[in-house]
Amino acid sequence: MNTVFFDSSDGESVRRSNLYAGQLYVFSPTASGLALCDLAQQMCEEAFHPHTPPEAQHHLPVEEYVEILKTLKPKFIHHPECKRLIPELLGELGCDLENTYFDVPRLRTACSGDYLSSGLAYAFKPHRDTWYSTPMCQLNWWLPVYPIAPENAMAFHPNYWDRPVKNTSALFNYQNWNLGGRKAAEKQIGKHTRVQSAAIEPMQLEPQTRIVTKPGGVIVFAAAQMHSTVPNTSGLTRFSIDFRTVDARDTSCDRGAPNVDSECMGTTMMDYLRGTDLEHFSDDEIKRHEMLPSIAKYPTPDHLVKAELQKVES
Ligand SMILES: [Fe+2]
Repeated sequence: MNTVFFDSSDGESVRRSNLYAGQLYVFSPTASGLALCDLAQQMCEEAFHPHTPPEAQHHLPVEEYVEILKTLKPKFIHHPECKRLIPELLGELGCDLENTYFDVPRLRTACSGDYLSSGLAYAFKPHRDTWYSTPMCQLNWWLPVYPIAPENAMAFHPNYWDRPVKNTSALFNYQNWNLGGRKAAEKQIGKHTRVQSAAIEPMQLEPQTRIVTKPGGVIVFAAAQMHSTVPNTSGLTRFSIDFRTVDARDTSCDRGAPNVDSECMGTTMMDYLRGTDLEHFSDDEIKRHEMLPSIAKYPTPDHLVKAELQKVES
């Protein structure tokens, strides 16, 4: 069963449990969500002036467009206002900031058509963020910057929640990727060659769920959810913000969504900042997560192991 909770008043521990069980939460725009989108809009409008950001792709050569993104994206990620607005937003939505850690937000673009579909505007194929060394309790928070439509939204693929997919996550180590892969992204126009965790079996993309929210509204989902960027046929570039959180009460005991198919090494634990004072996790806690592969920290649930064995025997 897949449930989408709208403006739920669930307490955050119930909400986390539901998210770890594959449900989705959607919230109407809040004051801080709107402020975060305003900030992103201002920065985008300045960068693409005199063009309207969602339409700028129709007016600029792709090389010039990439140059603009190369400056715009890091500027947003590291803008000091983001570190103020994100904890504020999390507080508005009931998170306990003493235990909630967040990472810097990303500003993403999904261009319409095949104008730019690699490198800095990579259209993410179906994946779980947990294939990229995140703790299984990571939650993703996603906000559109400008109004979106089903044709430029993102999609969830709920059938894969408890269905393993053959993938290359065993080759992925966040620590190694951080050393080389991220910088390579900006050099790639028209092709995508970075080593990414990816599915290596054909996938059924239906049924899928697309949620259309207003700018400043938030979709919250477990990093273990299978999701993708839909092929953008809207004629408009989608601009979105996303950031992630983990709860220290769950990282300390490896609680979270079930691990059905993630085998990566490394961890993203050093990226998160505490909601109250922007402190990092302790070195010991980061090391513990870094040393063990996902599969050791988060063993595959028994019923899936049994199902695999039955397949081999039959
Ligand atoms: Fe993702």
